[in-house]
Amino acid sequence: MATVAEYVEQHREDFLHELVALLRFPSVSTLPNHAVHVEACARWLYEHLSRLAPSRVELFPTAGHPIVYAAWEEVPGAPTVLIYGHYDVQPADPLELWETPPFEPALRNGRIYARGATDNKGQFFAHIKAIESLRATDGRLPLNVKLLLEGEEEIGSVHLRPFLEEQRELLRCDAVLISDTALYQDDIPTLCYGLRGLCYLELTVRVAASDMHSGVFGGVVDNPILVLARMLAALRDGYGRITIPGFYDDVVEPSAEERERLAALPFDAEELRQRLGAPLLFGELGYTVLERRWLRPTLDVNGIVGGFTGSGAKTVLPAHATAKLSMRLVPNQRAEDIAAKAEAALRALAPPTVTLELQVLHGANPVLIPLDSPAMQAAARALRRVFGREPVFVREGGTIPVVEWFAHLFGVPVVLMGLGLDSEGAHAPNEHFHLKNFFRGILASAEFLREYAQHHAVAR
Ligand code: BES
Ligand code: MN
Repeated sequence: MATVAEYVEQHREDFLHELVALLRFPSVSTLPNHAVHVEACARWLYEHLSRLAPSRVELFPTAGHPIVYAAWEEVPGAPTVLIYGHYDVQPADPLELWETPPFEPALRNGRIYARGATDNKGQFFAHIKAIESLRATDGRLPLNVKLLLEGEEEIGSVHLRPFLEEQRELLRCDAVLISDTALYQDDIPTLCYGLRGLCYLELTVRVAASDMHSGVFGGVVDNPILVLARMLAALRDGYGRITIPGFYDDVVEPSAEERERLAALPFDAEELRQRLGAPLLFGELGYTVLERRWLRPTLDVNGIVGGFTGSGAKTVLPAHATAKLSMRLVPNQRAEDIAAKAEAALRALAPPTVTLELQVLHGANPVLIPLDSPAMQAAARALRRVFGREPVFVREGGTIPVVEWFAHLFGVPVVLMGLGLDSEGAHAPNEHFHLKNFFRGILASAEFLREYAQHHAVAR
């Protein structure tokens, strides 16, 4: 009988064709007119999983996009690993910057190019192929596996939270495995033990009921764009320190041990500066670049709209202006508390000539995962075997809302086994995924499931 590695080798072409089919769906969760494509993608996954002989497979409708669930519960007494992924993707624009269309997957120099290739279809599909490969070679899985694929991660996983609460029994597991983070560097196997949280606000400043002729009313009604700009600029100092009162109250300072661990990672700030095309890197004094990216909170303006933005000149005093504002959070900040503090700060900054409208778009809490769980250790052994070198342990600056829920609501250890690279253009044009890491990911996933099953067998 073939080994998993041989099975993967023999099925490379099939796996790639299937991945291409999955990447063809423009499953953009945030665009209402793409809901049919999101749904079609979920159906494709449901059909695909049905062919892998699961003990249960289901498409759960939600008030938003569907949740795909499958389970292989065939080893009584063995532990259960839940694998999570998200089949929704970010919008593909600006389209003109793509070398090949975002939903016509293309293979070039060992990579597959498409929106969602690395974030997150290529990464979770590696786990599906691991399940297939293990079943094909061993006749069954080494332990029980549940698979949870959601269609709303990129919009804050709004309907997944109530689903977790309602379906505790269905989702019961001993460990969670997720590949939605990155390798620290090419060929360096990586386990991530912390993610930042997110508090995302939309803020509208209004000065009048409707737009006005700037010659007729300019001078007696305030300008919403200027007010908004002044308010936003006041939220940070020149080094990116956030001025919202109480913002840092709950921030945990990095320990000396953690700072040493991060400082020991190979890192070249000048190489990063050049890769990003930045004239000079920016940030809080007293913290290294990795500390600023992974364990310090930030505030960014994601977009700002207001007034006349067409070509030529229009003399208008706009009635309103809007900004999208986000803050990345670190332990022990809480998204709700930060939203309240930001709102209070913005209200205090607003002059009496304007009214403010404030909306919280999403919130997710930061999370830290213990390094010493049997699941984490099994993952380290699996990665060492597949990559042929010792894994590194990192934190990351991005957010995956469900990780904090698994960790704190379910109290289950989460393994973040990233297979992407931060150079792969997630959320940007020409997103791609290295096929090398797709195939290595399949082996690493299979190896992890075996290692974790082994640990339990021994621990009994
Ligand atoms: N895969 C990312 C999360 C991520 C990015 C983890 C970089 C580690 C490093 C995920 O798909 C994502 O983009 N999440 C959003 C969160 C959200 C609530 C919109 C994010 O971080 O902006
Ligand atoms: Mn993403």
